[in-house]
Amino acid sequence: MSDTLTADTAEKTRTSTLDLKFISHGTLESKNHEETRKFYEEFMGFEVVRASNMSMFARLGGKHIYVVVPKEEGGAPMSVRNHNGVDVHSEAEVDKAYELVKRDAEKWGLHQISKPMIQHGTYSFYFWDRDDNSWEILSNPPGGYDWMFELGDQEGKGSMDRKFERPLAARGR
Ligand SMILES: [Fe+2]
Repeated sequence: MSDTLTADTAEKTRTSTLDLKFISHGTLESKNHEETRKFYEEFMGFEVVRASNMSMFARLGGKHIYVVVPKEEGGAPMSVRNHNGVDVHSEAEVDKAYELVKRDAEKWGLHQISKPMIQHGTYSFYFWDRDDNSWEILSNPPGGYDWMFELGDQEGKGSMDRKFERPLAARGR
């Protein structure tokens, strides 16, 4: 789906008070921008640009970005409920990423690495980086969670249900 089509659809169905256009960014914290930039570029494969002496912008696979700002001394680790998900296109690729995260954990300060499994309807695993940001690597088709918006509202446990039927493309087996 093109950005234009999405914008047109949003315009036709908008019932909100504010006429907002695009969720452009979230924020992440970093203890050391140079080290974090190396981790993002060399391990995670993100595109990174310095926006100021205080901030970097990072993105991958789309126009939504993270603004990376200095972490306060003694700042709390990111809660798993605030994790950031990064997609691959098959469960085999999740397993491969898991092996690489374990292999390079010491080099990049990665910790609390969970085993891949089906969780909230998605095959994935979690880890925390040196900045104590929480990441999830998950299997999702190109377009990320487009499929859930196409399915529409779910009842009860919905996608959290272990028996939830994800699109075949999300399984990639
Ligand atoms: Fe998630």
